Amino acid sequence: MKRRDFIKSSGAMLAGAILPVSIVEVVQAENAPKGSEDFTFAFISDSHLQQIKGTKFVRNWDMGLKKAVAECNLMNPRPDFILYGGDLGQLGKAAEIDHGAEILSALHSPMRMMLGEHDYYYDLGEHWSKRFGDKYYSFDHKGVHFIVLNSILTDEAWIHKWKTPEERMSTMAGLDDPNGSPFMVGKSQRAWLKNDLSKIAKETPIVVFSHSPLQKIYKGWNFWTDDAELIQEMLKPFDKVNVIYGHVHQIQYNQIGNIAFNSVMSTAWPWPYPSTYKQAKQYLPKMTIEMNRADPFFERDATGWQFIDIHSGRVDLNYQLPHNKNRTIAFNEKSGKPEDTKYQQGDKIPPQKHY
Ligand SMILES: [Fe+2]
Ligand SMILES: [Fe+2]
Repeated sequence: MKRRDFIKSSGAMLAGAILPVSIVEVVQAENAPKGSEDFTFAFISDSHLQQIKGTKFVRNWDMGLKKAVAECNLMNPRPDFILYGGDLGQLGKAAEIDHGAEILSALHSPMRMMLGEHDYYYDLGEHWSKRFGDKYYSFDHKGVHFIVLNSILTDEAWIHKWKTPEERMSTMAGLDDPNGSPFMVGKSQRAWLKNDLSKIAKETPIVVFSHSPLQKIYKGWNFWTDDAELIQEMLKPFDKVNVIYGHVHQIQYNQIGNIAFNSVMSTAWPWPYPSTYKQAKQYLPKMTIEMNRADPFFERDATGWQFIDIHSGRVDLNYQLPHNKNRTIAFNEKSGKPEDTKYQQGDKIPPQKHY
């Protein structure tokens, strides 16, 4: 793998210099608490492996995940862990989850798993849990507190209104199915989160992983979590909070109060931006620039890689888009929010490669 393609963000990048490096480094703040150390981790998300029949799966989605696994194994330094961001399967079948687990088993770094709605709404996460364990949990790693949430839950009444699990799953699997239901973290998990956070010092950097955004973007497509504000409120007392989410299959970033939000992309396909959908009422206060729109004739366009760098407790994301211009979204200490380091104006669209 051409690791030299990786562009380091942080100070040098913000100053306008592009510095290709072969090593991804996580730099802790000088005053970071004891036990803090530089480190890297990687995030793979939204592979949507789909079974056609028996051992036959949609080849393109398989290849996306296999490529991600191969490239993670070639990273230098090796990531301390790899977070899988959810939607491993497409229709929640045991065969899809097992197939995904088999591909992921080739990873050389430890895996941490997160649930997506496509893994859940067939059997309510039963098979996924058997394979991967807890649906939500937290862990500490080298001075950072990580929280993995299950943000794709919904009303009990909605869950039980379907005649078959297949019907329930296919309704939730559609991007804009009006019969779907908004996601939420839910009461009991919020109580768990409150208790979990009560043990964390306010200056400890926090990274929350969620499948759906813990902010309200567009309800019609479930780019939405119903109790997002309640979660944000719980995270408010902490100095440095980063939420990293999957599900939206595109680049999004935002800042609400003390919380920086960054999305990661899919190994399978890109979703369009809600703003391209005229009925869409958007809630993001500012989308400075959107990822340049995918080529509809090339299903891999605008999907790709992101390298995550926790620099002084803040998250920078370096997107490598094989068929689009690379992008870096870095936290700017001066403005106090994540910013696209190169493309700031809405009318300045990164050029697409032609092929
Ligand atoms: Fe997805
Ligand atoms: Fe999803």
